[in-house]
Amino acid sequence: MRVFALFFAVIATFLLLPNAVLCDVRDIEILNAINNYRQKKSLSNFTYNKNAACLASRFVYKLRDEPCSSPDDFNKEINSENTLADFHKLLKKCHIAYNSTVDGIMLPACVPHLDPESVSNNYTKSRDVDYINSKNFTGAGVGTSDDWIVLILSTNTSTGNFANGGSSSLVVARGGCIGIMAGFLGLFVLLLF
Ligand SMILES: *[C@@H]1O[C@H](CO)[C@@H](O)[C@H](O)[C@H]1NC(C)=O
Ligand SMILES: *[C@@H]1O[C@H](CO)[C@@H](O)[C@H](O)[C@H]1NC(C)=O
Ligand SMILES: *[C@@H]1O[C@H](CO)[C@@H](O)[C@H](O)[C@H]1NC(C)=O
Ligand SMILES: *[C@@H]1O[C@H](CO)[C@@H](O)[C@H](O)[C@H]1NC(C)=O
Ligand SMILES: *[C@@H]1O[C@H](CO)[C@@H](O)[C@H](O)[C@H]1NC(C)=O
Repeated sequence: MRVFALFFAVIATFLLLPNAVLCDVRDIEILNAINNYRQKKSLSNFTYNKNAACLASRFVYKLRDEPCSSPDDFNKEINSENTLADFHKLLKKCHIAYNSTVDGIMLPACVPHLDPESVSNNYTKSRDVDYINSKNFTGAGVGTSDDWIVLILSTNTSTGNFANGGSSSLVVARGGCIGIMAGFLGLFVLLLF
């Protein structure tokens, strides 16, 4: 009986939050560390941008076999498409309209073990600090894989908000971030019964 109740609770959660992404607790901790830095500078927090986080996760996955290098080694401009040949494919997978990305910025970095404080320091002590300190950016999405992180900064304008677009406009922009731990906890509880 209890198993069924739990089962339906889990199914209902996913039906009610169709666009909720399972996000790594560590990704959120990294965003918090960066926001702590922003707070010290009297800047507003970066808000969680779900679409930017989706793109960051897709992109970071492609970096995992690259040798570790510092943030200064990358070309950040989103519209310098030569840096990632299948950028448009990744956008499609995340249901993002290309025009809504052109003012965004993508900041890859490799930091052993991705300790949130170290990641934040790595960004704020490299040339990337200009982006982290910028009032232009209001949102952020984080993706991590092994020692790699991709931080995408978004704006609150139509040219940088990573809005849904194209044929996927039916996808409603709601939902948010369900901690992956919550998912595991649910699974664990299920297995107990
Ligand atoms: C900004 O982010 C920091 C770090 O996560 C948090 O402690 C603080 O409460 C946030 N401030 C606002 C205004 O949301
Ligand atoms: C994107 O921007 C280009 C150039 O400004 C424009 O021609 C095109 O119609 C825009 N596409 C959408 C879907 O808004
Ligand atoms: C950032 O991390 C890279 C890779 O570990 C390292 O080479 C670089 O020195 C770090 N930079 C800062 C400012 O911490
Ligand atoms: C912020 O936006 C202004 C105006 O569009 C631009 O000149 C400036 O370079 C931007 N700053 C950053 C750090 O992107
Ligand atoms: C966009 O962000 C800027 C800078 O943080 C802020 O001044 C402005 O009110 C925001 N606009 C909207 C529509 O949220």
